Amino acid sequence: MKIEAYAKINLTLEVFAKRVDGYHALRSVVLPVSLGDTLEIVPASTLSSDAGYDDDLCVKAAKVLDPTRGAAIHVEKRIPVGGGLGGGSADAAATLIALNELWQLGKSRKELAEIAVQVGSDVPALTLGGAVLMEGRGECVSTLPIEISELNFVLVNPKIHSSTKAVYANCSPRALLGNESATVKMIEALAIDDLEAIAAAMVNDLQPSAIGLYPEIAEAMNALRSAGAIGVMMSGSGSTVFGLVPDQATAEKISREMFFKGYRAWAVKSMI
Ligand code: C5P
Repeated sequence: MKIEAYAKINLTLEVFAKRVDGYHALRSVVLPVSLGDTLEIVPASTLSSDAGYDDDLCVKAAKVLDPTRGAAIHVEKRIPVGGGLGGGSADAAATLIALNELWQLGKSRKELAEIAVQVGSDVPALTLGGAVLMEGRGECVSTLPIEISELNFVLVNPKIHSSTKAVYANCSPRALLGNESATVKMIEALAIDDLEAIAAAMVNDLQPSAIGLYPEIAEAMNALRSAGAIGVMMSGSGSTVFGLVPDQATAEKISREMFFKGYRAWAVKSMI
């Protein structure tokens, strides 16, 4: 069975107080984009994966679903690792969805999203799929109750790995979990399909912390801004940054420009 595992960007990522379990309370709009890994999963007596990075989330996802069964998981990797695009989490989400079918477990997408947090904080949102409002440490997910037009972005990776743990440890959380949040503004902006308003509502509370640790992120953001993106923000805990652009032709033009400046860059669109 073949399945695409799409990367995500965080249009907003608001970070609140640290919880008793050590994770931070979050509020985020998570959007899948058209950069994906391809997974091929076949039945096998034992469990194996060639994802090729530490802490293989495909194996972890399979074990959460059923620790007694086997499968051979082959991952064709395109999403950068340690890049804030949820690459490992997308692979885990795709593994849950594919093995649910292969092993004929009959779980709904919602049921899979509920167990997905045992694999990682970003996995529930990517298992649910589409544009998602993510809260809690990542376990509270709901599909945005609005129609969203196709959005175009340029993803730019400064060829460095960001440590999620270090970025969270170094961040200053917001004091209050109020309703007047950037996330609420973002959902309103998405609903009326206003690119300027979407750009204005983009926020990432982890960005100052990540830039403090990895100044290359700020350089990539400046380059993307100079190239003409409407709004520029870091995704997740970095290191990838994204720029909102008006159309696919502009995305491809800016993506080429960023590539010639020495970055890894992709022209992508939202995947709803
Ligand atoms: O859940 P996941 O394994 O992706 O989290 C990686 C690290 O990111 C955690 O160990 C924690 O330091 C940090 N984190 C956090 N609050 C969250 C999600 C992640 O502090 N809601």
